[in-house]
Amino acid sequence: MLLQKDLTLEEQIRRVHGEMAMPILGFAVPQGAIGSAGFVPADVARGIPALQITDASLGVANPANVRPGDGGTPLPSGLSSAASWNPEVAYDGGKMIGQEAWSKGFNVMLAGGVNLARDPRNGRNFEYFGEDPLLAGTMAGENIKGIQSQHVLSTIKHFAMNDQETARMGMSAVIDDRAMSESDLLAFQIAIERGQPGAVMCGYNRVNGTHACDNAELLQRVLKDRWGYRGFVMSDWGSVHGVEAAMHGVDIEMGTQLDKWLFGDVFFDRPLLAKAEQDPAYQARLAEMSQRILRSMFDVGLFEHPPVKTPIDYAASKAVAQRAAEEGMVLLRNENSVLPLNSSIKKILVVGGNADKGVLSGGGSSQVVEPEGVGLAIHTGGEGQFSTLREMVWHRSSPLKALKAELPDATITFNDGRHPGEAAALAKNADLVIVFATQWMMESYDTYDLELPDGQNGLIDAVASANGKTIVVLETGGAVSMPWLSKTAAVMQAWYPGAGGGEAIARTLTGKVNPSGRLPITFPADLKQLPRPEVPGFGGAENARIDVDYNIEGADVGYKWFARKKTNPLFPFGYGLSYTQFKYDDLKVEQMAPLVVSFTVTNTGKLTGKDVPQLYLTGMPGRAQHRLLGWSKIELQPGETRSVTLKVDTRLLADFDAKAQGWTVARGPYALGLGHSATELVAQQHVALQKQSFSDVAVSH
Ligand code: BGC
Repeated sequence: MLLQKDLTLEEQIRRVHGEMAMPILGFAVPQGAIGSAGFVPADVARGIPALQITDASLGVANPANVRPGDGGTPLPSGLSSAASWNPEVAYDGGKMIGQEAWSKGFNVMLAGGVNLARDPRNGRNFEYFGEDPLLAGTMAGENIKGIQSQHVLSTIKHFAMNDQETARMGMSAVIDDRAMSESDLLAFQIAIERGQPGAVMCGYNRVNGTHACDNAELLQRVLKDRWGYRGFVMSDWGSVHGVEAAMHGVDIEMGTQLDKWLFGDVFFDRPLLAKAEQDPAYQARLAEMSQRILRSMFDVGLFEHPPVKTPIDYAASKAVAQRAAEEGMVLLRNENSVLPLNSSIKKILVVGGNADKGVLSGGGSSQVVEPEGVGLAIHTGGEGQFSTLREMVWHRSSPLKALKAELPDATITFNDGRHPGEAAALAKNADLVIVFATQWMMESYDTYDLELPDGQNGLIDAVASANGKTIVVLETGGAVSMPWLSKTAAVMQAWYPGAGGGEAIARTLTGKVNPSGRLPITFPADLKQLPRPEVPGFGGAENARIDVDYNIEGADVGYKWFARKKTNPLFPFGYGLSYTQFKYDDLKVEQMAPLVVSFTVTNTGKLTGKDVPQLYLTGMPGRAQHRLLGWSKIELQPGETRSVTLKVDTRLLADFDAKAQGWTVARGPYALGLGHSATELVAQQHVALQKQSFSDVAVSH
């Protein structure tokens, strides 16, 4: 690359480290930065633009209000987008936030969180795309593609195994090569292939004893050598521990004030320069680091399409967020078709969840605040690095207001739900009750269990005991337990539904939208069903050096673990109801290598709706093995039949052979199941496959 060749060592050094650009912990915002997560200054003489870097996956963040009053449009949580099982939703969301970022002057987004939901208590699951590598990788990849379509470079993060927040700086994920390659790494691999992110962010945690941002095995051997990734590796903020990280695969050290504060130096500044001046190996690495960064900047169009501050059509952005939320609503229960709400219902009581104010969002670096401000913010206090950021934020889209607008002929009253007895007494006089239940989750903290906080289980129980027509709407970070389930008439999982969340909830409850979301995670019936009934290291320090044994479940994350253990979850992966019904016929194997399968889907109900038929592997030669192989999201009119063809990624039929560093399909019989969820398989097929071995193909062009 010509530009790279001309750069002096000093000039290259300036490319490979960047400061945080938010006024937290007493740090100043660097000159020239717009203000957000990070900043790398321009090189005006060489014509290299600055990197203006913002968080992240759910929209343009404004940490510590560094750009006074400058909000952005929050997408629903990553889990909500994943629940749509619609790659277009992920792409459109990415495109929308990419466009907002670009219009505010940013050219890098720290998006693409694709860590698998190995533990339902992980405080950041809401940012990610669920527990399955194919689903998560596909959705994250599309999200990244959408962002980069706007000439905003996206990361994918946090590479790798950053699957719990407890001890997030010190924990070591203990897992063997094969299990990792078939699970978390596969999610990254699929997302990188689809999305071609300019950068990969390495995580805070350790993997098999070595910090992810110092892990040559992961960064060099897997990502760059085995997968042929040509972009650059960006450290998480404050995750570089020494200058050697450069030799182990990190290309840019970010959040440098944190490294200086935590570890005493900015390693990729003077220390790296000194090494490069003395040691040809370091000098060559520095050139490669700088070249990789510049290459991605050219690739995504940062040179040709510099951001221009442009007015943003927030109404159009909100419509994108609302559509995503609507496709992500998962109807979990609907006794006697109590939903959609019909016009005979005159008196509705809405309870709890601050539904009069808005919809809940998740906390941490992904937090977005709308241009008009928050609907409600409650500071929760607490200790730790993130304690000042411990604020529960409700976006302004009020479900109560939206319900009133959708049902002008009904009398709708609100009770805040603080006193269960009072809510229950009011419930007795209503035709129907809708309880909003919330569970807040935040980066850097895991939840202790899956109980709804603040006595909400008691509230729901009391209300549902008083009125059989009780509908529960869940605004949660992920799975929660539901001890009151059998008493309720309906339950709808709304996740953190983002800027148009209230409207999306109201439109789904009233049937303007036929729910079509499916769970991207398993809802356990009991914590004892999990590979680790307790969160390892819970309550300990952020940098506690603990080992977390992921070899227990290995690659069998989520539903695969439940299938292996033959235990029944509360709700399985892939589950979700509709206001209509679908049936599947004619499951056929069309082709063996690569495997192509076809079937038909018929809408047997009375309403138009979208379905998500899912194809699973259930058995391989010599063993039972559950894996999602493919799916389709299709809309059908009542009575309509459509044929669906799915091509299976051969890696999903293979085992990763750690010795050969490649994939092997064993010769023999494979069992396939087609169904409505991971556990409701309605058609089976067997196919005999030939032995096949192959290595990874390049993930980046
Ligand atoms: C988070 C990253 C984030 C970065 C910059 C870190 O604490 O782990 O996901 O992008 O901060 O805000």
